[in-house]
Amino acid sequence: MKQLFKTFPLLFLLLILTQCRKQPAKATGLVTEKAMVVSARKEASAVGSAILKKGGNAFDAMVGTELALAVAYPFAGNLGGGGFMVYRKNNGDIGAIDYREKAPLSAHKDMYLDSLGNVIPGKSTLGATAVGVPGTIAGIFEVHDKFGSLAISDIMEPVIELVEQGVVVTEKQAKRLEHYRKQIIEVNGDNTLFFNSCVQGDTLKYPALVNTLKRISKNGRDEFYIGETAKKLAAFVQENGGYVTEEDLARYEAKWRQPIIFEYKGLKIISMSPPSSGGVTMNQIFKMIEPYDISEFGHNSAETIQLFTEASRRAYADRNYFLGDPDFVDIPLDVLLSQKYLTERMNDFTLDNATLSSEIKRGNMQISESSETTHYSIVDQEGNAVSVTTTLNGAYGSKLYCDELGFFLNNEMDDFSAKPGVPNMFGLIGADANSIAPEKRMLSSMTPTIVEKDNKLYMVVGSPGGSTIITAVAQTILNTYEFNLSMQDAVNAPRFHHQWLPDFVIFEPEGFSSIVKDELKNKGYIINEDRTPILGKVDAIRILPDGRLEGGADKRGDDTAVGF
Ligand code: DON
Repeated sequence: MKQLFKTFPLLFLLLILTQCRKQPAKATGLVTEKAMVVSARKEASAVGSAILKKGGNAFDAMVGTELALAVAYPFAGNLGGGGFMVYRKNNGDIGAIDYREKAPLSAHKDMYLDSLGNVIPGKSTLGATAVGVPGTIAGIFEVHDKFGSLAISDIMEPVIELVEQGVVVTEKQAKRLEHYRKQIIEVNGDNTLFFNSCVQGDTLKYPALVNTLKRISKNGRDEFYIGETAKKLAAFVQENGGYVTEEDLARYEAKWRQPIIFEYKGLKIISMSPPSSGGVTMNQIFKMIEPYDISEFGHNSAETIQLFTEASRRAYADRNYFLGDPDFVDIPLDVLLSQKYLTERMNDFTLDNATLSSEIKRGNMQISESSETTHYSIVDQEGNAVSVTTTLNGAYGSKLYCDELGFFLNNEMDDFSAKPGVPNMFGLIGADANSIAPEKRMLSSMTPTIVEKDNKLYMVVGSPGGSTIITAVAQTILNTYEFNLSMQDAVNAPRFHHQWLPDFVIFEPEGFSSIVKDELKNKGYIINEDRTPILGKVDAIRILPDGRLEGGADKRGDDTAVGF
């Protein structure tokens, strides 16, 4: 053997290189032995971790973390919104729950159009008319009923403590509040809690929220949907001209869903199914890129960007046309996810030049990128994992804040297609599949995801970012698996995005060289250089080969991993 390597030193080098590639990257994020919570705020991760420490499981921690985010991160954390969770128990059982908002009973297809059939600006985004029936409390109680191990009062205790103590405002939070203060005052008037500016280091307290949470802790889910809170909430929304009634709240149900499950080069990826488009669109993207050796192309190289962009372009075109609430529309998933269809979809792909979106479908719109949703990932000491994305939709949702109850209300109605072909706030255009109907759920892009490798838990991952969520999650998985980055580095790595329409690639401000961009331009790619926003804010956990956990808490926000 020695003689062989002496004679063929290249062979030796090659062997070492292939061995290196097989070694998973060394951790660079927080590493813990047993359990971890990664979320948008240290306070919320700490609440989740404390629940795990006192013997709770990942599902108990989900309930606590979700509520703690409503306190520490009201920008997106919520009682007045909704979300999705994908789970994997330590025995391999997997599933998903949809606690997405739904349209009120009085909603109808043209509710956001004027008499000429034009979309009325602001009606689906700002104030009470934008509010969908909230699902968060139903979701966490459903999860707790099915899988929880601690009493609700034990889980809510640290959350109530957090609200009572108040939350110290971070620099980023102060900036966000200042940015939206005018709009919040416009919607709620001068008496709103947010009338005064706050600065980094101030402590924000929500006295009314303490009472709401105490009542929920005592009376359970019904408090929110048929109790005192329901009555106050419905009256408040209606006084402000909105549509949610007591009947809407009483009829709300969270729904267990079969997640989207697919293989990618030896990984098993489990993600959210409709009414989120996340799992389906990511499944399409991964299957379209699978035939290529993307790791050979190199991380964020021109070829990698081309391949990923072309797959995204095709997948988003399908998303916008075919997807909607599966309880209302038939989605041809068997075709959309079949290998034959996806192979054909990439038949015209070439590394020589860009395919124009106009050649796939036409359209025209603006795109707005932001990160107003929030994602958290949890692995408990028994190996159960939950991946949860929750949202009010826009920043502070509709900006409508119920002073009496202590929380913001969503503007999720804007995720419907108010008029076919007219873009929503994320520049996504929709078709009939996502038109408004009473009690229908609006299409989402949220992509809470769990990944298995060799039948074992490998990663828990998700992100905010509206339409950019799906590409942010997919790129994070590729960064770890194909490009061998640690979890933290995979989360921090610069991202790019393309969503079919508008037909341009957007890049984050740092990390992409002009050489790469020029190469892409020469091949016909349209690059939007005016828009270099941050894309997503990923919070993830990777299971290391020795069973320890590595956190990936996005450097783009105040995101923090806490565990033990
Ligand atoms: O469900 C959705 O896809 C959107 N409501 C998510 C909103 C979001 O991520 C806000 N941040 N950009």
